[in-house]
Amino acid sequence: MKKTVICPGSFDPVTLGHLDIIKRSANMFDHVIVGVLVNSSKTPCFSIDERIGFLKEVTQDIPNVEVVSFDGLLAQYCKERNVDAIVKGLRAVSDFEYEFQMAITNKKLNPQLETIFLMANSESMYLSSSMVREVASMGGDISNFVPKCIHDRIVNRISNLRNH
Ligand code: COA
Repeated sequence: MKKTVICPGSFDPVTLGHLDIIKRSANMFDHVIVGVLVNSSKTPCFSIDERIGFLKEVTQDIPNVEVVSFDGLLAQYCKERNVDAIVKGLRAVSDFEYEFQMAITNKKLNPQLETIFLMANSESMYLSSSMVREVASMGGDISNFVPKCIHDRIVNRISNLRNH
């Protein structure tokens, strides 16, 4: 039976760490949905259309990846789309407690739904979108943190925000 998984997140913006998890998921499962949360408690730097546009661009060569936005409960969205499992990257140990809490809650809300954790690769261990935004906003080099094809747009966008 075909297996569908979802890589959910705010992707504000997508980093090489996210892309690593998406690619590894695409190698393991038939269909990978990259789900961008619309209404997060965080105020995003990039609009939902920008975040989706970046993700579509960096995954365009991976045929079994679909990029969507979703609103509301992830467990409910997974039910509607017949998703078998949530795939998340685990970086430092500090991720664990929060991820464990989310995995248990999602399982209570949708008992069919599994959560699978992939260990982040060593380059992404300490990477996060807010770190990328902070380094870029101070004029630092983010070329090791974000996909090459969207690098300049992220830098321009963040420096525009800084200058206005
Ligand atoms: N590489 C690099 N960075 C990564 C990463 C990876 N593999 N995985 C996560 N991150 C970073 C993100 O960049 C983000 O960094 P930031 O805080 O600096 O912006 C941080 O880890 C947290 O990730 P984020 O995607 O913002 O959110 P989350 O992991 O807390 O969860 C959802 C996102 C969408 C899964 C969650 O909010 C959700 O399910 N929301 C829907 C509502 C719901 O169902 N709530 C009940 C949940 S139990």
